[in-house]
Amino acid sequence: MAKPKRRFVCSSCGSVTNRWQGQCADCGEWNTLGEEAPQTVFSAKHDLSSGGRAILFEPLDKADDKLVRRSTGIAEFDRALGGGLVPGSAILMGGDPGIGKSTLLLQASAKVAQAGGLAVYISGEEAPGQIRLRAERLGLQSAPIRLASSTSVRDILTTLGGMEAPALLVIDSIQCMHSDQIEGAPGTVSQVRGCAFELIRYAKENGAVLVLVGHVTKDGSIAGPRVLEHMVDVVMAFEGERSHQYRILRNLKNRFGPVDEIGVFAMAGKGLEEVSNPSMLFLSGRENPVPGSAVFPAIEGTRPVLVEIQALIVRLQSGATPRRAVVGWDNGRLAMLLAVLEARCGLNFSACEVYLNVAGGYRLADPAADLAVAAALVSALADKPLPARSVWFGEVSLAGEIRPVAHGGLRLREGAKLGFEQAYGPEDSGGAGEAPAEMRHRVINLLPNLVDRIVGDE
Ligand code: TYD
Ligand code: MG
Repeated sequence: MAKPKRRFVCSSCGSVTNRWQGQCADCGEWNTLGEEAPQTVFSAKHDLSSGGRAILFEPLDKADDKLVRRSTGIAEFDRALGGGLVPGSAILMGGDPGIGKSTLLLQASAKVAQAGGLAVYISGEEAPGQIRLRAERLGLQSAPIRLASSTSVRDILTTLGGMEAPALLVIDSIQCMHSDQIEGAPGTVSQVRGCAFELIRYAKENGAVLVLVGHVTKDGSIAGPRVLEHMVDVVMAFEGERSHQYRILRNLKNRFGPVDEIGVFAMAGKGLEEVSNPSMLFLSGRENPVPGSAVFPAIEGTRPVLVEIQALIVRLQSGATPRRAVVGWDNGRLAMLLAVLEARCGLNFSACEVYLNVAGGYRLADPAADLAVAAALVSALADKPLPARSVWFGEVSLAGEIRPVAHGGLRLREGAKLGFEQAYGPEDSGGAGEAPAEMRHRVINLLPNLVDRIVGDE
């Protein structure tokens, strides 16, 4: 066996020699050469520094592979995707059971097929007969979709290998797929990961768009390994309250575009209908203001959506721990706002139950909602309605300041368009200066001022 070579490395410049010297020949420093651990048989065997193929480096500005997107035929779906389907990409779509994932994807497959693309829809949960019934209900029975019911990834890939690669491949759902190469029942972490890996590889190699439907656990995250979210290019959540008509398709991760656009749909008798102008949807439309209700001009991507925030405060006589319940907003954020209202404005909620609801089954993610929530809470506590036809926006800091938010001008204009007359919010909010003439921008910079306005007789 050859004697392992001795190596000396300079601790200053990193140069390597085979002989020890007092001075590094490269950088000229003295006493910096030290011997490295000799190469053993093991490290020689596991040395990855040679024996591979050289990889090619690519310029960033190569002109030939421009992103060409394919439309799903459903404008709201395209919008949520950031412009359409990117060939060779994988999309994971999560959502509560019965929210309409299968319906949306069947409709999208039909549109792609009708536009001349090859659409393959594979269901592991429903028999073809059931899907056919749904298609009939949607009026899509004549769409040339390739429909099959299977749960074996090997069967699916074998079938796909023998035909032209589809433009759109829907797998409904990834949790019921299984691979005979992997131990375990369908839905287990290793099965889900293994099956997704094989399907994604097929999509990337063949330029197909793969849509994986994912089940959602009780806390709302996609069931199965979190790595699934890392493996795919796009993660979408289909949300909404099942008892409400409206559904929101939200983009949580997008390697090819923005994540802040949403698609809005309404579940109707003939499937999902697109709602292209959603700004009025989440308002109650009531004329007389009631205590505890505030309107918030939210921005979803590039579109404003006006939502009604409702607060209810019930004083408890006994010393029982009061409840705090939130629908459609963040629990922790509510706790923070209550604490700020208590610490900075002297309002005491500790003996009150607090309920907060965002109307219409909408889920608010815009941080500018703080002021509207605070206004609803103060109005409910004081049992005084907020001024009629007013909207509220701004982010509340722990110090009780109202901080400027983005798109002030857009919020004001949308409010004015829908007949609102006053907007309460911080000064200097991205373009709030250019308020339309019909809308008065009333500046609130501190939370105590908000309380004075609502409780006082202004
Ligand atoms: P589905 O797409 O099966 O949900 P998921 O795949 O997310 O579990 O949607 C089923 C629900 O949609 C069901 O509760 C009935 C409702 N629905 C309608 O209201 N109208 C329709 O035209 C269709 C097809 C479904
Ligand atoms: Mg389904």
